[in-house]
Amino acid sequence: MSFDLLIKNATLPDGRTGMDIGCAGGKIVAVEAGIAAEAGRTLDAGGKLVAPPFVDVHFHMDATLSLGLPRMNESGTLLEGIALWGELKPLLTIEAVVERALRYCDLAVSQGLLAVRSHVDVCDDRLTGVEALLEVRRRVAPYLDLQLVAFPQDGFYRSPNAEKNLIRALDMGVEVVGGIPHFERTMEDGARSVTALCELAAERGLMVDMHCDETDDPLSRHIETLSYETRRLGLQGRVAGSHLTSMHSMDNYYVSKLLPLMAEAGVHAIANPLINIALQGRHDTYPKRRGQTRVPEMRAHGINVAFGHDCVMDPWYSLGSGDMLEVAHMALHVAQMTSREAMRYCFECITTHPATIMGLEGYGLAPGCNADFNLLQADDAIEAIRLKAARLAVVRRGRVIAQTAPRVSQLSLDGRPDSVDASAYAPRA
Ligand code: FE2
Repeated sequence: MSFDLLIKNATLPDGRTGMDIGCAGGKIVAVEAGIAAEAGRTLDAGGKLVAPPFVDVHFHMDATLSLGLPRMNESGTLLEGIALWGELKPLLTIEAVVERALRYCDLAVSQGLLAVRSHVDVCDDRLTGVEALLEVRRRVAPYLDLQLVAFPQDGFYRSPNAEKNLIRALDMGVEVVGGIPHFERTMEDGARSVTALCELAAERGLMVDMHCDETDDPLSRHIETLSYETRRLGLQGRVAGSHLTSMHSMDNYYVSKLLPLMAEAGVHAIANPLINIALQGRHDTYPKRRGQTRVPEMRAHGINVAFGHDCVMDPWYSLGSGDMLEVAHMALHVAQMTSREAMRYCFECITTHPATIMGLEGYGLAPGCNADFNLLQADDAIEAIRLKAARLAVVRRGRVIAQTAPRVSQLSLDGRPDSVDASAYAPRA
């Protein structure tokens, strides 16, 4: 047998070492130790980690890289961010949004991030963001899977044309139904919006992903309605609740009732740790709430959890780098998920779990999957998170599409080694 690409001596996320991965025709065709075959290109992994590509299941690509336009968010709150975005929206052009989004996708690919679900604001009668991101989706398709969510940023009922525009966006080819129930005028309107949007998704056979309860108000309980409607309409496995930060502040008794309802409905949960550790708790003095949803508890109930990046250099967040390892790094700190086993789980929250939510076909490292993966300068998933490891090679459909030189520091110390490779400090078994 001959391969287009052969990876030698890789460690896999499940702990197998010394593995070879043979790729042909854009697919993985063999994963085993000691493959001896011809290959168009052979890469020696040197015992380092080969993992499936990173997946960001919650992002805003219409706003990315717009930091400072037209001004900065002074309070650092979600609400000022929404107001600031409202000032920027009338100034957007399709060309400018496309250019910024494509630049972000370049950054994403360089970080081994090859699938993104982006919300796109539909509360703009021109649908500038929708037109721009549909164009971006077409242009990046050879190297990045971009999935779009019709997102009524200013409220499905609160914004005058949101309902009409959201349907226009779906008709244009946006594939997921979004929502923002906690931003509607009343709790009742929020609940009604959840019902209406889930019914719309059921009618059209679409997935749902709502910004849900992104607030410190423990009485914001739209996730309850979302779970109820998911089950009532038979949408199990096709619905995600994003953010869910109010759960951080909820009464423990109520949460003990809520989590089984979410599990029963097969609702996915998406935490956005960088953003919510920065945005939440802004009205607190001390102690300040962390504002991340209850990840270990949802995990214990069998709910599928993923971590999203949400924002990079936009009205809500001035930082961000397209690096999902940075996202997982923050998440495990905020959730105090520091056992070896829990840290490995956090790696899955930026790879396999979000791939399930997006419904990505051919994702994974088994024979028959797409030949998409990253070679990381780390011995295992924990080291990858600890070091935010260099992406030595990013592979898409069997072709190396990005490479980064190994990070090795040169030392000038008498009697000490002349270089340090931080990835060689993993604990030895
Ligand atoms: Fe978001």
